[in-house]
Amino acid sequence: MRVMLVGSGGREHALALALHNSPSVRFLMVTPANPGISGVTRVASVAADDIPGLVSLAQLERIDLVVVGPEVALAAGLADALALRGIACFGPTRAAAQLESSKAFTKTLCEAKNIPTARFAAFDNTEAALAHLTKVRPPYVIKADGLAAGKGVVIAQTLQEARETIQEMADGRFGPAGNRLVIEEFMTGEEVSFFALCDGHKAIYFGSAQDHKRAFDGERGPNTGGMGAYSPTRHATPAFIDDIMTRFIEPTVAAMAQLGTPFCGVLYAGLMLTPTGPKLVEYNARFGDPECQVLMARFEGDLAAILMACARGQIDTAPSFKLSEQTAALVVLAAQGYPEDPITGSEIRGEAGASAIPNGVLLHAGTRRDGDGKLRSAGGRVLNAIGVGPDLASAVETAYRVVDAIVWPMGFHRRDIGWRELHPELKA
Ligand code: AMP
Ligand code: GLY
Repeated sequence: MRVMLVGSGGREHALALALHNSPSVRFLMVTPANPGISGVTRVASVAADDIPGLVSLAQLERIDLVVVGPEVALAAGLADALALRGIACFGPTRAAAQLESSKAFTKTLCEAKNIPTARFAAFDNTEAALAHLTKVRPPYVIKADGLAAGKGVVIAQTLQEARETIQEMADGRFGPAGNRLVIEEFMTGEEVSFFALCDGHKAIYFGSAQDHKRAFDGERGPNTGGMGAYSPTRHATPAFIDDIMTRFIEPTVAAMAQLGTPFCGVLYAGLMLTPTGPKLVEYNARFGDPECQVLMARFEGDLAAILMACARGQIDTAPSFKLSEQTAALVVLAAQGYPEDPITGSEIRGEAGASAIPNGVLLHAGTRRDGDGKLRSAGGRVLNAIGVGPDLASAVETAYRVVDAIVWPMGFHRRDIGWRELHPELKA
């Protein structure tokens, strides 16, 4: 089949490799891609939110299946536009992507279906949100309702801080995402990223991983899109997987179908393992980045054929696959200033040496290759260093060997990826 992948991050570099290696794929195009992906397959330069441009490209290239990486394309209605042209799409419609694009939508669905999550209240009105603060206790978890690239959550320790946050959201600090906000109960516990593939009516478990959300070692600094990951996690026992599928994923997929907005794509549950059991922090309508990269490092199967079966609403016909017994660990190399204001344009050396590390993989994210052939930073999260091994310790060691082969003074990374399992004596 002829496949088009949309996106340009580390997640899409990993998906591009897996789609390229799918026996059912005879043509693969990625847009807008990155310099790592252009070394693998054909690329185009249509942006991920240019819906007419993406549809035209898919028609021009006679694409059978479009695989959507980032949420922006989904929330902008790419799946809907492709459906009108009869082109199969792995990724939800705009209405189904509300599971990610509206926290209030998801919270209401959880309430209706008894899916465990933090207690919450949603507000369109600043005065009512401010008044609500007096009825709940700190710390206050305040979220912009819409998409905010992982930066729409503020955990305020004091009433004063909470009031200021609500005021800032009202003043547009999060853009339109902050027009509506959710205030929820503060939860504690380790977080697990849980992935299921859905065909609109059924779901199958795909894998889980753990992310590292804070910018700096020891879970300090601002929340980011994710600074490192590993898979598998010790939490994902068969009983845990069964429980999450039964109490979270299946009721959600059934509810979306009942609402007339069936969910096709990756349903990614961000779970918190609280003292009273797992609770949903949020749903995403796509693979996690960097979690996808560690899942793909373990994936064995025909990814394109599986995603096509989902897109056709026939997940039962998907060929079998497995994630290897190996552990994969990933370290993100980010540009100084990330997440607030990453410095772009700095030179990165050592790519060839890093790519040659045995059992290691170097994936690109926010990079660009200039006319002089030099690699430079072009975003916040810039490179992904992956190690694969028989256990987490060896996977992490290899990942850092890849990191240490890169020469990039204007970048930074965490040195403690995997600490929860390798150094449990350290506490967040
Ligand atoms: P989200 O964008 O909803 O995934 O939230 C980003 C991060 O904020 C999560 O990964 C958690 O670390 C934290 N967070 C979100 N909601 C809560 C909550 N109710 N209690 C504690 N931490 C939270
Ligand atoms: N790594 C978290 C996310 O993709 O949202």
